[in-house]
Amino acid sequence: MINYNKQFNINPSVACGDKSISHRALCMAAVATNKSVIRNLSLCKDVLCTVNCLRALGADILLDGTTATVSPIITPVDNCTLDCGNSGTTARLLAGIVCGLGVTATFVGDDSLTKRPMHRVTNPLTEMGAKFTFQQGTLFTVHPSKLTSTCHNSSVNSAQVKGAFLLAALFANGTSSYTEQVITRRHTEKMLAHFGVKVEAKGNTVFVTGGKPNGFDITIPNDFSSMAYLLALAQLKGKVLTIDNICLEAERTGFVSLLKSAGADIQYTNVVESFATIGSITVQPTKLKSFTATKIDVCNGIDEIPLAFSMALFYKGTHTFSNVQELALKECNRIEACLQLAKVCKQTASFNGKDLTLTSDGILPCNPSFCCFGDHRIAMCASVIAIANDGGSVDSTPFDVSFPNFLQAIGVQPLRFAVIGEDVSRSLSPQLMQHLSAGADVCCTYEAVSLPRSISDQELLQVIGRYDGLNITMPFKERAAKLLGAEQDSINTIGKNIAPTSTDGYGIVQALHTNGIHIRGAKLWIIGAGGAAKEAVRQLSSMDCTMRVINRTLSKVQQIAQDYPLNVVDKLENPVGVLSFVPECDWEQCLPLPDSAQFVFVAAYRGQSGLKDKAHKKGIKVVEGLEMLYHQGAKSFALWTNTETQNNYKSFLEVL
Ligand code: S3P
Repeated sequence: MINYNKQFNINPSVACGDKSISHRALCMAAVATNKSVIRNLSLCKDVLCTVNCLRALGADILLDGTTATVSPIITPVDNCTLDCGNSGTTARLLAGIVCGLGVTATFVGDDSLTKRPMHRVTNPLTEMGAKFTFQQGTLFTVHPSKLTSTCHNSSVNSAQVKGAFLLAALFANGTSSYTEQVITRRHTEKMLAHFGVKVEAKGNTVFVTGGKPNGFDITIPNDFSSMAYLLALAQLKGKVLTIDNICLEAERTGFVSLLKSAGADIQYTNVVESFATIGSITVQPTKLKSFTATKIDVCNGIDEIPLAFSMALFYKGTHTFSNVQELALKECNRIEACLQLAKVCKQTASFNGKDLTLTSDGILPCNPSFCCFGDHRIAMCASVIAIANDGGSVDSTPFDVSFPNFLQAIGVQPLRFAVIGEDVSRSLSPQLMQHLSAGADVCCTYEAVSLPRSISDQELLQVIGRYDGLNITMPFKERAAKLLGAEQDSINTIGKNIAPTSTDGYGIVQALHTNGIHIRGAKLWIIGAGGAAKEAVRQLSSMDCTMRVINRTLSKVQQIAQDYPLNVVDKLENPVGVLSFVPECDWEQCLPLPDSAQFVFVAAYRGQSGLKDKAHKKGIKVVEGLEMLYHQGAKSFALWTNTETQNNYKSFLEVL
């Protein structure tokens, strides 16, 4: 998660190479006649997937910073698995290449990519003679076949599908043609022509004659789709901004046409034509009226529609985005994502199956908390809204999928926090920290980092050194305490300017306290003898409590009793409360709940608890582990940032 405050400073020199062109340059170099050099290559995760897949197929790709030297595939590797990660462009463009290589290859991807439509690309390639099979959990498998030139009339407007078809056509004898209803981005045809392939475009049809591209040496222009977030921020925050050496293809800049039709002042200068249209772009902020995105704007700026939608939230009026249905098939359902952005901003939006409409009063609530559905572009849209609104948060930060330097380019330097543990994939801490930081003037990120139990001390210390603040969970609490020479045996909080400590005990006491339970001097039963129970005993001993510790392994109880001889006793009748620190459905179920108990506390905040059920039946108070989680997190956050959050446990429950 990331939380923004007012801090930002657009830095147009932090750019990155065009993603679409980077994918295509790599694919073409991999099947070229000789070596190629590609400069200013995008190093985003998507493009690195293409690099790795081409390497797996037998291309020799040397990366030196943003320069790639590519020796083409000589003998294609058979039977490989190509992991396309989150990248639709990798999967679809490479489908075209692999069909021509005469090998078997299985394409796989992440959950999002596995759900995206692949028949749009396999159908036209099948017409050309390619053979595909489909197995669950994969995208598809390509089998060896001979390709023959064909004419394809496309019913989907997709540059990826066109790109795959044109790349496959390189391996077919004779001339193939691809006709589309609306001309999509023309990178594939323009680049192939530039690299010596016989290509001709007539109206909406592209003709390609089989043959290999020549090896080449190019410098990729900067990515319009990434820079669009900077242009949007400049317009929203009233800053003049010029970005140089950027790809300004008409089929990529629907966003510019759309903004201009709403009254934006955007100029191009120093425009040159090569394998792409390249130039400088300047935005002079002006007052904008309603946005109307035409079908052509949408086709020419499909990836920027959610960004235009995000900007429109700030301008009073009714805004329409026509024919946006393709957006439902992107990395997430971006139509749903836009509706959610509007909802969080308390504006009204709807989708009628074709067009997206937004009615905004231009006034956004303070510190909105967004979900980006794991989608890099939605994460950047939500970031732009948050910064333009002087604060707000996003649940995750997958910027590196397309724009690894995003935060640097917008001049945001968050404090870096994280939780580490063996498996923190279901940890609630990122959500908790999103809520806590939303109520404070702090710019920070918070990650969940799962580490293997077998990690060495040295590696563990290295991970710790990377963060401004860390929460530590099972099984590292005791190890970190020893490694860092902490006062306590078990710690959960480390920070750059604070002594390592545990806020768990504080969390318990605070949770009890806010439930009206004053614990000083109380008689209690403690169930469990692990790290959390030990920390509870430590804290409660300091508050003069008398405790009986109940646990399956007796030696652990004896150890605690030795450490706290004045407070931990063998037998204890009539406790006022029972505190459980063991996981769901454990032997805790079999324990009787004494009649004297006025409350129970159950640390595990997921799943069933026999103790809780018994307490509910008897009608006595139950203090939830979630409340302890909230208070220990709030304390860690306060220690790291020296700030108190304006939010509280009740408001956290509302956002869960
Ligand atoms: C791309 C084409 C677009 C775009 C994607 C990149 C390309 O997808 O959304 O980010 O490089 O060809 P479609 O062609 O599927 O619309």
